[in-house]
Amino acid sequence: MTAPAAIETSGLTKSFAHQQAVDDVGLSVPRGSVFGFLGPNGSGKTTTIRMLLGLASATSGTIRLLDGAMPDAAAEVLPRVGALVEGPAFYPFLSGRANLHRLDTADRYAPRSTRRRRVNEALERVGLSHAAGKRAHAYSLGMKQRLGIANALLTPRDLLILDEPSNGLDPQGTREVRNLVRSLADGGSTVFVSSHLLAEVEQMCTHVAVMSTGRLVAQGTLEELRGHDHVQLRIETPDVGDARQVLASLGLQPDQGGPMAAATVTADLTVPGLHPEAVNAALVSAGVRVRGFAADATSLEDRFVALTGEGFDIDH
Ligand SMILES: Nc1ncnc2c1ncn2[C@@H]1O[C@H](COP(=O)(O)OP(=O)(O)OP(=O)(O)O)[C@@H](O)[C@H]1O
Ligand SMILES: [Mg+2]
Repeated sequence: MTAPAAIETSGLTKSFAHQQAVDDVGLSVPRGSVFGFLGPNGSGKTTTIRMLLGLASATSGTIRLLDGAMPDAAAEVLPRVGALVEGPAFYPFLSGRANLHRLDTADRYAPRSTRRRRVNEALERVGLSHAAGKRAHAYSLGMKQRLGIANALLTPRDLLILDEPSNGLDPQGTREVRNLVRSLADGGSTVFVSSHLLAEVEQMCTHVAVMSTGRLVAQGTLEELRGHDHVQLRIETPDVGDARQVLASLGLQPDQGGPMAAATVTADLTVPGLHPEAVNAALVSAGVRVRGFAADATSLEDRFVALTGEGFDIDH
């Protein structure tokens, strides 16, 4: 029997007065995954996350979080969930450290005896130790974001839900968050992390779901989303006819680009187990003069643009 999913939604929908911000979303987040929740600005990521956490009510649909139905099981389930949601609120005149102490005090499942140590460890993990004594109102956006992540890490969690954790961070901070997310997963937590940055998701996630204007347009492992065997070969050669013959003999279907003598032949690498290196070797050993050889894997970005249509533009 497979373990139940960490997050499972069915028909999840949220209507505001003038729009469906989230429309019939069926997420299935496997336990132990680092699950990227990817979508352009305004596609419904934060609204979905707020519903998952019981911070907003769903117009319709169901949510299972760990072993419970939300929002009914919130009291049992949420202590096992650490969360960072858009724009975390802190007491401005308390230091970062004091804010974490307060937040931890409010968590009745967090043991008091270890509070000081856990707060310091959380600050350390997000790289905020040096600024821990500074008042939160003097924090930059990136520092506030780090403090929000630290809050989610105060106690060990089965599931972390992080809404754009690298929002406002510089490249170094972004890298640190990426590593942090991976280390959380290595520690056994499931991590559900939203982002509008494809490259970021590609680098830290095992699974991904793509949102577009409130709808879930794809979900699966990164490999599934990239699509198998979407490698296109491009060969520049004066020996176009011979190149085409060699490719055809390998089971590929070559196209010829351009009427020039030294032309480009392209072919999708559609034969399972046939690697670009083998194609190149076959061309050369058949006497084809290969001036250029490229094997371009379909990037996730191509897939993302194809799925969301408008790419990363905000359309409402
Ligand atoms: N309280 C609200 N009232 C009305 N409309 C809302 C409300 N909250 C969100 N929306 C709308 O729902 C849509 C989805 O918003 P949401 O914040 O979930 O997107 P997002 O994917 O998190 O975007 P971003 O990447 O910018 O954070 C947007 O069009 C937004 O304007
Ligand atoms: Mg958002």
